[in-house]
This record gives sequence, structure tokens and C-alpha cells, in this order.
Amino acid sequence: MCKKTVVLGVCGGIAAYKALDIVSNLKKKDIDVHVIMTESSSQFVTPLSFQSLSQNMVIYDMFEEPKSFEIQHISLAKKADIMLIAPATANIIGKVANGIADDMLSTTIMATKAKVVFAPAMNTNMYNNVIVQQNIKKLKDLGYEFIEPSSGRLACGDEGKGKLADSKLISEIVSSMLYDKKDLIGKKIIVTAGPTIANIDPVRFITNKSTGKMGYAVAEEARDRGAEVTLISGPSSLSDPFGIETVKVNTNEEMFDEVVSRFEKCDIVVKSAAVADYKPKAYSESKIKKKEAQLTIDFIKDRDILKILGERKSKQILVGFAAESNDLLQNAMDKLKKKNLDYVVANDITRSDTGFASADNLVTILSKNGKLIKLEKMTKRCVARELFNLINGY
Ligand code: CTP
Repeated sequence: MCKKTVVLGVCGGIAAYKALDIVSNLKKKDIDVHVIMTESSSQFVTPLSFQSLSQNMVIYDMFEEPKSFEIQHISLAKKADIMLIAPATANIIGKVANGIADDMLSTTIMATKAKVVFAPAMNTNMYNNVIVQQNIKKLKDLGYEFIEPSSGRLACGDEGKGKLADSKLISEIVSSMLYDKKDLIGKKIIVTAGPTIANIDPVRFITNKSTGKMGYAVAEEARDRGAEVTLISGPSSLSDPFGIETVKVNTNEEMFDEVVSRFEKCDIVVKSAAVADYKPKAYSESKIKKKEAQLTIDFIKDRDILKILGERKSKQILVGFAAESNDLLQNAMDKLKKKNLDYVVANDITRSDTGFASADNLVTILSKNGKLIKLEKMTKRCVARELFNLINGY
């Protein structure tokens, strides 16, 4: 993906300090950020703070000495891949909705052909004011995007809607919009993630070490490429990703029901979940008391969800994962055949620097057509990217 540019417009509100975090998050995603501040925003945060974080000159005065020959609002308007206004006050929303361009930020918004995204933040009564709501509606109808403010205690002490959306969420939505490849538009994709649990008694269960990171990365990659994604996740501490229908489950049976009910209408299923293969033969309704020196619990096989999908599949592309501690490729190939898969992503779980709980993975992807792609160690998100590249024939 070639380097992208976000022009961030910062308006005068207490949430202006949160825009610093947005700059920092976007920079971490290797996005070039240029900041335009309104005059009142500099009462809340200094231009120097934005300059230090963005590593670009901050623009806040339309008539200051030009730093280059370029006319700044025009050159920034052209440079922007996205213009993000955060926090967006009632004032800037009102100006743009009514065609007023009287300072650096409003003139740049007026001059850009890039997508403009507003992240409003203001007092809840202002936000709910019918004039503000009409202006927002007008802008939405014209194709401007909005990131909804959240509800809670506002700086003025009032409770209600009007808090700037979470700065990490804003950065993620923007970087998702900037994603170049939109080759999964129109596709319905199911991703499973995390572990499942098998209950023993009302207080005990068995599970495994899966954290869900791989599956969540697959779901986010598919979303950013335009797919309609359903993430069916076992217990995980990861927060629900935006723009994805996330269904939380616990057991093998619950995961099975959620996947199967959606299977027929979907195009691709990626089963990254580490599903429990066995469950106790009998669930104890009451808590098992400690009596004997030894406790034996009998386990019986639970459903192999992926194998059942393999038997039922028609047009769907099925992707499985193979977590192996030995004979990686042979075991992965066996799973590919036995479960009637199109692709299998094989990873060696004995390595401590990749796999479970790690941000990275080291995998080999095998296809039913005999392709074998050995990837170097990379982030789970990059593994997801490579997987969809392969599915799409790159
Ligand atoms: N899988 C599944 N249902 C199960 C077990 C596994 O759907 N009961 C899926 C996993 O989501 C994964 C693939 O099958 O995509 C392989 O899982 P893995 O645990 O590596 O293999 P198993 O089939 O369970 O075989 P084994 O544990 O013997 O290696």
C-alpha cells in the first residue's frame, strides 16, 4: 500500500487534546499527517504539540507568511487522501453545511476532492440541537462521513451524547477507509476465532491457549477489503472490531450453531478458532467436591465443525488452520484432504515467538490445487493479507 496522507482539521473544543492521540495513532500506521488548526483550537492545545507528533508544519493562520510558494489550502486539499475533522464543532459543521469558507480549515474542506470525515464533539444539548442535526443530515446526504460521538459524562459535567469517539477507533476507521484493496466487496465472510470451552461443572471448564488474535486480524483484513464479515468468537479479551458483526460464543455447540446457520449464504469461511475436540462425557450439575486423591473425568469427542462444513459445502471457499507441534506439512495436508478444504494455514505451535498470544505468526499456506506458500515471520494481520491475496489469485 503506498503511503497515504490524512489532513486533520482540529477545532476548538476541550476534546482537541485527544486529537494528539489520533495523530500519534495514524503516524504509527505509517500515514502522513498534516494538521490544520482553527484559531480557537490553539487555545486548548498548542500547534507545537501537533507539529512534534505529526512531524509536519501545522497550519493555523490563512494569511501567515507562506512557507513555500504553494497556496496552502489548495495544496493540502489536493494532497489529502482523507480529510478528518476531529473534534468537529457545531461551528465547522454549520459552516461546511452552509458553504462558508472563511478560514484555513473551512477553505481546505471546500477545496478538497478527498473524502471528508467529521468526528463531532460538543455539549449534548448542542449536539441534539435541531439545527446541528439538520446540518449533519445535509452533509451526510451530500456524501460526507461522520464518526458518531459517544455518550457519557461530558467536560461541562452534563451527561449525554457528544463525547469525541474513542481516538483509537477514529484512527482505525480512517485507516480502514484508506485501504487500497477493496477486492472483497460483495463477499460474505465468516471468521471464527479464539478458543471454545467445555464445561465440567458450574464453576469449572477446560479450554486452550488461543487468544483470538489471528481470527480478529483475518476479520479486520476482510472488512477493510470491503467484505461483509461475521466474526464468531470464543472467549477473548480483544474488543469487538468496528464494522463487523461479532457474535460471542462459549462452547463447540454454540460455535457450530452460529456458523451453520450462516453457512449457506456465505462465500468464504475462515476457521481460525481453536475448537475444543473433547467435552466431559457428563456435565455435573453440582460442583464436584474434593474427595478422592485422584479425579478422573471421562471425555467424549465433540463435533469437528470444519469437517461438517467440508461435507456440506457447495460454492463456499473453506479455509482451515492447522496448529501442529510436529510433521507440520504432512499433518496440514492431511487436514486439508480430510476436511475437504480449499486452503489450510499451517503453523508450528512449538515456537515461543509466534503462534498463540503472539502478535506474529510463521505459517505455510497450502491449497487444494497443490500450491505451497511458505511465508516469513510476519504480523498476524500480514498473514491475513497474504491469505486473501492467495484466495483472490495474486
Ligand atoms: N476445527 C473445528 N472443530 C473442531 C476442531 C477443529 O472446526 N472440533 C477446525 C479448526 O478451527 C481449524 C482446523 O479445524 O481450522 C484444524 O484444527 P486443529 O485443532 O489444528 O486440528 P484438529 O482437527 O482438531 O486435529 P488435531 O487436534 O488432532 O491436530
